[in-house]
Amino acid sequence: MSDKEGSGIGYGKTILFGEHFVVYGLPAIASALGSYTLAKVKVSRGSGWNVNDERPATPGYKKTKFDEAMQSIANVINHMKIDTKNQKLNITFGGDLYAASGVGASAAQCTSLARALNDAFSLGLNAEQINEAAYEGEKAYHGTPSGIDNTASTFGGLIWFVKNLSGGSNTMDLLKAPEKIPLVIANSGITASTTEVVADVKRLKDENPEKFKYLFTQYEQLAKQAKEALLKGEIPLIGDLMNKNHELLQEITVSGQINDKLVEICRNQGAIGAKMTGTGRGGLVIALADSESLQNKIALAVEKEGYEVWKTIIG
Ligand code: MEV
Repeated sequence: MSDKEGSGIGYGKTILFGEHFVVYGLPAIASALGSYTLAKVKVSRGSGWNVNDERPATPGYKKTKFDEAMQSIANVINHMKIDTKNQKLNITFGGDLYAASGVGASAAQCTSLARALNDAFSLGLNAEQINEAAYEGEKAYHGTPSGIDNTASTFGGLIWFVKNLSGGSNTMDLLKAPEKIPLVIANSGITASTTEVVADVKRLKDENPEKFKYLFTQYEQLAKQAKEALLKGEIPLIGDLMNKNHELLQEITVSGQINDKLVEICRNQGAIGAKMTGTGRGGLVIALADSESLQNKIALAVEKEGYEVWKTIIG
């Protein structure tokens, strides 16, 4: 048996505009984070695969997501047609991305694994093929993923993403903001089930088609304005649109009390805009700042209230 081994990374992400709406083919904007999950694969004698999950994580996150994580790893291995009958895969996940709801931890895990397998078995897959493998993994975390998380995780950068509802290629445009924009990420510490929240939104939409039609129109206009504002670096407008996006997320019931509380804490410190990000009903909130000093002020206030906080830059 050869001692094949390989490694690969997948970035974390934050959705600036359009979580949930993106599932229905509306555009969304996400930024990859500098932090990533690092997967390492060592091939040994035996069969099957085992996992050593050393990622830093919100307490309870790994336990809550355990079954989905195992299924997602199996999905990636199967999609990549790796033989696990005549060899054993020893998989380790690490890296500096803190695994929490809302940070794209599941996508980063899938992407890093696809890259590590690609490396270990010298498959020569390109980024698009890595993205496809990661998408298969994401299906275990939320039945009908839009694909925005794995796309941000694979390609990095600031992206405009539209899911192709007919099953063809999705739209992904890399955006470039004129300047780097400071962002605060506040962690509620609550792990939400993306499958459940996405299913709840679908139920609500089926029950209230007219309301959702109206909300979707509102959101679509907002997303287009947000893209222009980001390209021009119009921070006050970006912040205003983040606040409006948060209201729409409240309307579709995905912002929990804890998200609203964190948004309030950030706005009280002068955040230019703040909203929940990702699945919602826990998970994370993001707040926009126009300077490092404001970013620090917001982060300190969140921390003082007893929540974890990270500072990053986008653009
Ligand atoms: C989760 O990070 C984002 C959602 O929009 C689901 C998805 O896009 O698949 C809630």
